[in-house]
Amino acid sequence: MPNPPAAVISHLTIRLATPADAVAIAALSRAQIEHGLPWTWREPRVRAAIADPDTNVIVVGRPGAVTAFGLMYYADDDAHLLLFAVHRSQQRRGIGSALLQWLEDAARAAGASRIRVEARLDNEAARSFYNEHGYHEGEIVGRMYSGTLDGVRLEKWLREPG
Ligand SMILES: CC(C)(COP(=O)(O)OP(=O)(O)OC[C@H]1O[C@@H](n2cnc3c(N)ncnc32)[C@H](O)[C@@H]1OP(=O)(O)O)[C@@H](O)C(=O)NCCC(=O)NCCS
Repeated sequence: MPNPPAAVISHLTIRLATPADAVAIAALSRAQIEHGLPWTWREPRVRAAIADPDTNVIVVGRPGAVTAFGLMYYADDDAHLLLFAVHRSQQRRGIGSALLQWLEDAARAAGASRIRVEARLDNEAARSFYNEHGYHEGEIVGRMYSGTLDGVRLEKWLREPG
């Protein structure tokens, strides 16, 4: 998997996360993604993902002041977007789109065929965001999250299967 350098997209700097970002990423995950659910992405798990060569973790913002991040795991031909969030105060400014573009470029460069992602069924913002970026909704899974909240699987093919 490639390990591209920090990229500047217009005024926005996207960089690879370092261990110093783990606390902020875990906090953002708690507030924006895992709210109302058990907190599974705590600092040690995030730190392990940052160190994992099969995972790309990217951020916007200085260490300790991360305003957006994405965490993508690679397995076989697939890339799996496990965590993705933009701080509430920074949404609808194109930051999520820029991060997603970065991750898609990295997945293509790594030879991935497909990107998979899940969202809560009631998360209209995320579903609209991913649909806008060419992700197709597939299976709806009852009680996907902690055995309580329903979810939907989405995917985007980067190249023809096989
Ligand atoms: C989903 C999320 C990452 C989008 O980030 P963002 O930086 O606001 O997205 P962008 O500004 O790049 O939006 C691109 C397009 O996506 C769609 N979109 C984004 N947020 C939307 C919302 N709240 N409602 C409807 N459509 C939305 C729009 O088409 C938007 O284009 P527009 O602003 O020109 O209308 C952000 O809302 C978020 O962090 N949500 C909480 C965490 C989460 O749900 N993560 C994903 C599941 S793990």
